[in-house]
Amino acid sequence: MTLRIGDIAPDFAVTTTKGEIALHDWSKGSWVFFFSHPADFTPVCTTEMGRTAQLADQFSARNTKPLGLSTDSVAEHLKWIEDVNHTQDTALNFPIVADPDCEIAQLYDMIHPNESNTAAVRSVFIIDPENRIRLIMTYPMSVGRNFDEILRVIDALQTGDAHKIATPADWTPGKKVIIPPSISSEDAKEQFPQGFEEIRPYLRYTEVA
Ligand code: BEZ
Repeated sequence: MTLRIGDIAPDFAVTTTKGEIALHDWSKGSWVFFFSHPADFTPVCTTEMGRTAQLADQFSARNTKPLGLSTDSVAEHLKWIEDVNHTQDTALNFPIVADPDCEIAQLYDMIHPNESNTAAVRSVFIIDPENRIRLIMTYPMSVGRNFDEILRVIDALQTGDAHKIATPADWTPGKKVIIPPSISSEDAKEQFPQGFEEIRPYLRYTEVA
């Protein structure tokens, strides 16, 4: 199934390391960072799982629930979590989906056959509280993801929603934001009483708290 930004994230009911989860019920009112990885007891995946656990407070501050997935069983996940905690000096508390038959991985297009028919690549779906997919990223098996970027993009999406703005290249919270071209300069004066800087009619910066 090809999923695109703006689609409703397909719902599923599945066994995880924290028991049975039905995605839309479980995520109600929260954002979700849903990410797959190829296999338990592998080095890059171990660091990614550890990093996600270490960032628990950061995800929570963004009202975002992490949900991992690999195409292994709950028993394997639970054993592996002990290793993750030990080697990455953390306590992993978010659920990891067991997907030994690749059903959810297929549903979310996480199996890329030229990489592997049985293991997921490193997919990321950021899903909003209305269950809409807001961001999709796909990394190869050999490259660990940048978790600063994952937090940054959640910040950008949430700031964009709150203030109806867009964010420029390399934006991080506190930097200037962009007034989208869909807002006329007339309307921008009302919507952004703090003022804005017009570099070009299509390139206007403002600041939001
Ligand atoms: C890893 O997590 O280290 C890994 C897993 C599958 C293929 C390559 C690397």
